[in-house]
Amino acid sequence: MNDEERLLDPQVQTEEAQTEKSLRPRMLSEFIGQEKVVQQLRIAIAAARGRKEPLDHTLFYGPPGLGKTSLAGVLANEMGVNLKITSGPAIERAGDLAAILTNLQKDDLLFIDEVHRLNRAVEEVLYPAMEDFALDLIVGKGPGARNLRLKLPRFTAIGATTRVALLTSPLRDRFGSIHRLEFYADEAMREIIERSARILNVAIEPDGAYEIGRRARGTPRIGNRLLRRVRDYAQVVADGVISLEVARTALHTLEVDELGLDENDRRLLHAIITLFDGGPVGLSTLAAATAEEVDAIEDVYEPFLIQLGFVQRTPRGRIATHRAYGHLGIPYSESHAAKDHPPDTDAEQARLL
Ligand SMILES: Nc1ncnc2c1ncn2[C@@H]1O[C@H](COP(=O)(O)OP(=O)(O)OP(=O)(O)O)[C@@H](O)[C@H]1O
Ligand SMILES: [Mg+2]
Repeated sequence: MNDEERLLDPQVQTEEAQTEKSLRPRMLSEFIGQEKVVQQLRIAIAAARGRKEPLDHTLFYGPPGLGKTSLAGVLANEMGVNLKITSGPAIERAGDLAAILTNLQKDDLLFIDEVHRLNRAVEEVLYPAMEDFALDLIVGKGPGARNLRLKLPRFTAIGATTRVALLTSPLRDRFGSIHRLEFYADEAMREIIERSARILNVAIEPDGAYEIGRRARGTPRIGNRLLRRVRDYAQVVADGVISLEVARTALHTLEVDELGLDENDRRLLHAIITLFDGGPVGLSTLAAATAEEVDAIEDVYEPFLIQLGFVQRTPRGRIATHRAYGHLGIPYSESHAAKDHPPDTDAEQARLL
């Protein structure tokens, strides 16, 4: 494997990754939901094309599986340019990034996944590259060393992150357009499931698609995963068609509940409630108690539980709300109500996010 291969597209192609690729929308017209983002991108693309210029550097952020990587591909297709893919952790040294940058061609899109994980030295190289399309090199050592500025072709950096708060502000400031992806509404999820079913050649009724979509935590990746597993069930136990009834029974056997919470979500809530008396409990304590990674809790489980109003982030830790008790069928006593905090101040929220 040469250097370029090591740094670009380092993902291993599992079966899930391959299906995911086949299900990715390729053009904006195939991209369902996220209307606000799509409209802004449509305008940015038209404007850039009209001026015959590359797109502004663009940052996508939001929970995993909502379409950040897909949108990077869509932008490349819509602009008719090459997409080079790398990621924060793959670029270990400043020299790695320099190698990628000097191999770019005019108008290329450089997609940097997990852009919050770039290290400082690498970021320092990225700043002038994004701002001035320049690469600053130091040639030689000691007193004879001198600075050399290399011109780079005009390119577009596309960053993606699940954790926008971890981005340094100089880096964030260099993205001319910043888009936050939201959890998808039920109706958009139904359309996404129907589209995926068409591509995968799965027979599905609209009610069945809605049921899967509605229980996928507003997340296309989860919806597609549930669709594949419900398909297996339909094939073996039913007549291969995913009706509402089949979807319900299959999701029940998969232990996905009415709101789309799975075993892991419930385990997390149970831990806060039974082990820590409803909280507040610190993130790392919670991670240790549930044998989960801190990152997985913050990135994967928690955002949707917060959106549902089941978990609150407070300066002293995570709290399970009375709604969470209700959902799990655990009585919520007055002593908990007394502990419930008024909403955090904006400043506190911002610090925690
Ligand atoms: N708007 C959409 N319409 C149709 N399918 C979508 C949409 N958004 C995402 N998907 C599907 O969801 C899957 C996951 O999307 P994607 O990989 O782009 O998410 P991501 O935000 O990059 O996730 P991560 O943060 O984990 O990298 C894709 O395979 C794609 O099929
Ligand atoms: Mg991605």
